[in-house]
Amino acid sequence: MEAAAPALSQIGLAGLAVMGQNLALNVAEKGFPISVFNRTASKVDETIDRARQEGNLPLFGYFTPKDFILSLQRPRSIIILVKAGAPVDQTITAMSPFMDIGDTIIDGGNEWYQNTERRIDQANSKGLLYLGMGVSGGEDGARHGPSLMPGGSYQAYSNVERILKKIAAQVDDGPCVTFVGEGGSGNFVKMVHNGIEYGDMQLISEAYDVLKHVGGLSNDELAKIFEEWNRSELESFLIEITADIFKVKDEFGEGELVDKILDKTGMKGTGKWTVQQAAELSVAAPTIAASLDCRYLSGLKEERELAAGALREAGMNDDVNAVRTGIDKKRLIDDVRQALYASKVCSYAQGMNLLRAKSVEKGWNLNLGELARIWKGGCIIRAVFLDRIKRAYQRNPGLSSLVVDPEFAREMVQRQAAWRRVVGLAISAGISTPGMCASLAYFDTYRRARLPANLVQAQRDYFGAHTYERTDRSGSFHTEWSKLAGKGNNSVAAFHH
Ligand SMILES: *[C@@H]1O[C@H](CO)[C@@H](O)[C@H](O)[C@H]1NC(C)=O
Ligand SMILES: *[C@@H]1O[C@H](CO)[C@@H](O)[C@H](O)[C@H]1NC(C)=O
Repeated sequence: MEAAAPALSQIGLAGLAVMGQNLALNVAEKGFPISVFNRTASKVDETIDRARQEGNLPLFGYFTPKDFILSLQRPRSIIILVKAGAPVDQTITAMSPFMDIGDTIIDGGNEWYQNTERRIDQANSKGLLYLGMGVSGGEDGARHGPSLMPGGSYQAYSNVERILKKIAAQVDDGPCVTFVGEGGSGNFVKMVHNGIEYGDMQLISEAYDVLKHVGGLSNDELAKIFEEWNRSELESFLIEITADIFKVKDEFGEGELVDKILDKTGMKGTGKWTVQQAAELSVAAPTIAASLDCRYLSGLKEERELAAGALREAGMNDDVNAVRTGIDKKRLIDDVRQALYASKVCSYAQGMNLLRAKSVEKGWNLNLGELARIWKGGCIIRAVFLDRIKRAYQRNPGLSSLVVDPEFAREMVQRQAAWRRVVGLAISAGISTPGMCASLAYFDTYRRARLPANLVQAQRDYFGAHTYERTDRSGSFHTEWSKLAGKGNNSVAAFHH
């Protein structure tokens, strides 16, 4: 007797590394039968085993692209979760011969947005639909509810909306998924999310550095403070895991593991892309750039050790680094909390303004409030304060910067004294706080009605006749600076431009 053919699956997933397996199990657990595929057969078996162990979930494994595709209900939708770049093209090439007009490919990797735009065109030429979908939340998020940032074909999104809304993280105002926009917008938004994540992690590490090296706090005290902060305006995933980190003992010796970890940061490239795009679009993103620079400098471990030695020999005073005496710990802790919050607001302002600039360039029509909403749950930067960002953009979708929203403006003003104290203390103690300093400089530059750019303009006109505008009359002006300064010689302008 022949076995009945299994009912067709509602969706497929190819690429069963950690993220892929977890996302597939999530889909199955929400009651949507799913087909899975991987070139390496053992990955398929592993996923099937997990689906059985985690409650006989409706997950079906296939070992060839053809069987995989033909096991799906039409119009078919497949999610691919492989390494960005060439592996995505290879997977599409393997799958698309078996797909029909109206079927959809969803790339869930951290892909460069322009690659997605190229693939959208290729897919369209075959009658296929395409989505580039940012997925954030790590393996746990993928399994229990990630934040999803799909962009590309709206029709493709509608076909899978039901599923995406069920598998995404759920927060008080809905599932953490929305149709982001056309083209590569989903990947772009995920990229900026990651850039903001770099900034958050950098700022938290600076808060730790100041508390530890200026305040002299122990890991035990740090764990308690981060737990406390997790019940404040800073409540967020990254603050929460930081509290946990300080509690973990070193299994090989005395003390806590955190102190034994090599101070060299890894990275995968989305932070760098964010900074490159900011420069490309003439958007200032100094906090995110500072966090990227810090990762580069952290990588120079051997050089930094040599530098420490060279400067000590040159007479660098050791008390530059010493824990301050006579510090009011309680006040320092409270100041650092405020400095961290204010710095974070500036970093998000930069990320949001980068998104807006790109949206204008590409005509994506991004809804910044809605993006803040889908980051409230599931993703690495999830935080209570994203709800405030959402509301700021709901109040005023054209908001030029978060720091001038009336609510945030009030908070920034309330925190600025503490913020300046922390940065000042860190600078005099020789503790680098590039993220907090970048945020503060961003704030102070942005809020000042008059900057020393007048002098830069004068210099440009002096050596390059670039002309300048005046504050008191319209038109562009050029001045024979060197003649009027009494030098009676114009050679500078002539030589240098
Ligand atoms: C299958 O698994 C391997 C790792 O075992 C991975 O490199 C590959 O990209 C996966 N994806 C597909 C679609 O085969
Ligand atoms: C942080 O806050 C969240 C939400 O209130 C809570 O679920 C979590 O247990 C807290 N974590 C720590 C380490 O305090």
